[in-house]
Amino acid sequence: MFQSKKKPQHYQPVVLVTGCSAGLGLALAKLLHSRTEYRVIATAREKSLEKVRNHFLDDERFIVRSLDVTSEEDRIRLFGEIQKLWGGVDVLINNAGISYRAVVEHMTEKDEELQMATNYFGPMGLIRLALPHMRNTGRGKIINISSVSGMLAMPTMAAYSASKFALEGASESLWYEMRPFGVTVTLVQPGFIHSNSFKNVYHTPLSDPTRNWSGPYCDFYLNMTPFVEKMMNLSLTTPEKIAHEVLKVIKSENPPLWVPATLDAKVFYYLRRLLPRRIFLPFLYWCLPNAKNWSKEFSHRR
Ligand SMILES: NC(=O)c1ccc[n+]([C@@H]2O[C@H](COP(=O)([O-])OP(=O)(O)OC[C@H]3O[C@@H](n4cnc5c(N)ncnc54)[C@H](OP(=O)(O)O)[C@@H]3O)[C@@H](O)[C@H]2O)c1
Repeated sequence: MFQSKKKPQHYQPVVLVTGCSAGLGLALAKLLHSRTEYRVIATAREKSLEKVRNHFLDDERFIVRSLDVTSEEDRIRLFGEIQKLWGGVDVLINNAGISYRAVVEHMTEKDEELQMATNYFGPMGLIRLALPHMRNTGRGKIINISSVSGMLAMPTMAAYSASKFALEGASESLWYEMRPFGVTVTLVQPGFIHSNSFKNVYHTPLSDPTRNWSGPYCDFYLNMTPFVEKMMNLSLTTPEKIAHEVLKVIKSENPPLWVPATLDAKVFYYLRRLLPRRIFLPFLYWCLPNAKNWSKEFSHRR
């Protein structure tokens, strides 16, 4: 299936992208497919591989492979294959992600584990596999797709935010660790993207919308779900636009650690830094639709 290992005349970076079956990952794969200066491994879970293969045919510089980022076996197998084919990965784009929609009380430990395994442990495992080659060649790029949720947290998205905060913290640390070796680390932080990915959110048995929400957290779900959907529909930012932001990072000699990638991300980035904390949280609370009336009939607040 593989051609023999070729040594390109010029530097043709090897780019690995995770989660290419939909949304930003698919947009990135399409964009990179059109850029002949890169060798690309577009990956997706086995169950979604067909969707990706419908868009691309393997050739000498673009291949589609299966990768579930939560599987250590998958990660090791893929890196072994890339090592034999192209020597290693020069640009790792940790894009695959899931998002739970549930209040903290409705999450289970298993749900928390899946959220972290996909958005944090998987990407960290891939980073560990990519770094030796990057250090040895004295260059490389780790690009982690974070989120505004990695800057601030919203109700019903605690686990998602926790996973992105974890990714942000580790990336910041890695930025220092890689500085002597010529490897850059970047967190691309989109806000709301105009896409259907709100349809892909994960629910727990207690946050499941088909259960007809009731009880103390009912107002949170009734308000947050349409709010997020509306903001995503109103957003002018498409996955393709974010993909171009990521390409700018790939092309940049010395990209910054943080790249707020949408207008709302830039606004929140500065608000978080400029507003005093005692104003920041009440301000965001006030921005949520009618939040002061949520759960009133269930509250025993004194
Ligand atoms: N959409 C937004 O508004 C938004 C905002 C800020 C940040 N982000 C971040 O941007 C990234 C891409 O999101 P998106 O909007 O493009 O989401 P999306 O449309 O839901 O796509 C997510 C992708 O991740 C894949 N994936 C999920 N679990 C995986 C696993 N265990 N292993 C490998 N792939 C897996 C999915 O594959 P399957 O088809 O197999 O499920 C899918 O290809 C995520 O990291 C997300 O957190 C999104």
